[in-house]
Amino acid sequence: MSQEYINPDYVPEPDKVNVKKGLEGVVLDTTAVSKVNADTNSLIYRGYPVQELAEKCSFEEVAYLMYNGDLPNKTQLADFQKLERSYRDISKENLETLRRLPKKSHPMDSIRTGVSFLGCEDERIWDATPKTNLDKAIRMLAKIPTMIAADLRFKKGQDFIPPNKDLSMAENFFHMCFGKVPQKEIVKAFDVSLILYAEHSFNASTFTTRVVTSTESDIYSATVAGIGALKGPLHGGANEQVMHMMMEIGDPAKAEKWMLDALAAKRKVMGFGHRVYKKGDSRVPTMKKYAQVMADVTGQQKWMQIYETLEKVMVDKKKIYPNLDFPAGPAYYMMGFEIDFFTPIFVMARTTGWSAHIMEQAANNRIIRPLSEYVGAPQRSIER
Ligand code: COA
Repeated sequence: MSQEYINPDYVPEPDKVNVKKGLEGVVLDTTAVSKVNADTNSLIYRGYPVQELAEKCSFEEVAYLMYNGDLPNKTQLADFQKLERSYRDISKENLETLRRLPKKSHPMDSIRTGVSFLGCEDERIWDATPKTNLDKAIRMLAKIPTMIAADLRFKKGQDFIPPNKDLSMAENFFHMCFGKVPQKEIVKAFDVSLILYAEHSFNASTFTTRVVTSTESDIYSATVAGIGALKGPLHGGANEQVMHMMMEIGDPAKAEKWMLDALAAKRKVMGFGHRVYKKGDSRVPTMKKYAQVMADVTGQQKWMQIYETLEKVMVDKKKIYPNLDFPAGPAYYMMGFEIDFFTPIFVMARTTGWSAHIMEQAANNRIIRPLSEYVGAPQRSIER
């Protein structure tokens, strides 16, 4: 009997069993963190449209909003920044663990290991009071970029650059990765990408963090599980695949034929489609605008030319629209990041949304335990 065996005598009982493959259309719980409205192509974080947050706020302000429900005033922001900056260093042991990871391992596996290490180091691991969980969330927010940047440099055989506590989160990340802060247009585009990636309701990784939290496990374990879910190319890993695809195409003149061939071969084209949005992803216009700024600043127009052609052909032929990973991929590439660091950057942003959901789940918890419909071998006895 193979693993794929399905009992040939299985007869579904439609009145009794209604399997929701992929949980499509299932409303699992309430949330006050964000709302994705597919009909109006809109996304709000705690009531604020994401486009407005991207244009008017910093990522730190959005992180505060995620954790606390409201945007900070000046004093609250200053206190929050002070705390976040005070947490940026990582322990010698954690750094050493990252240094010793196989050079060929994927950076998502490194950051998953790094967050797991943070959990091992935190003596308050079983203290899940709202106050402690919030502090742990800010601890992760501050240390995840340091761990990603350390891994980036170790993989290139370079020395670790310690965090600079006078810089914003976006500036500091460039400083730790490359030893310098780029021009302000690049920093702004990166900050915008973090805001757009921060939160998106019950997506696969957030759902994962809520499932883990529902067992009364800890915030680090939930985040590690979220990172595992985000790594997959159907979720966060798509931003890396988009850039691999654009590099494979290489020349804007080849983009139309490439897409037509992909559609004829019924290939999944990364960076397109979405479970919830069917008429376009609310975050794409803002990220596309900043990807174009990256092309203007770096003189790499060809990626946006390939972008335009792929988008046009896909929308014309299939009415399937780009998702956020489509502009984010080339934008990160033009900022100078190695492709396999695109999804870890997504982690750096999404840790805010995950933590907000983890705290929300913990505050009003019921263990998440769905049912399944058995289609395997009928009951039998061991014959010996
Ligand atoms: N390329 C080609 N065809 C696609 C597609 C894509 N990126 N996304 C969806 N489709 C097709 C499906 O194959 C399906 O066709 P069919 O009806 O002939 O079988 C149809 O569009 C409807 O797909 P849908 O049910 O809406 O997809 P889903 O909800 O099961 O999956 C995604 C959603 C995001 C996983 C899917 O669109 C995908 O794999 N996209 C590429 C990966 C990606 O960019 N992920 C990041 C998401 S933010």
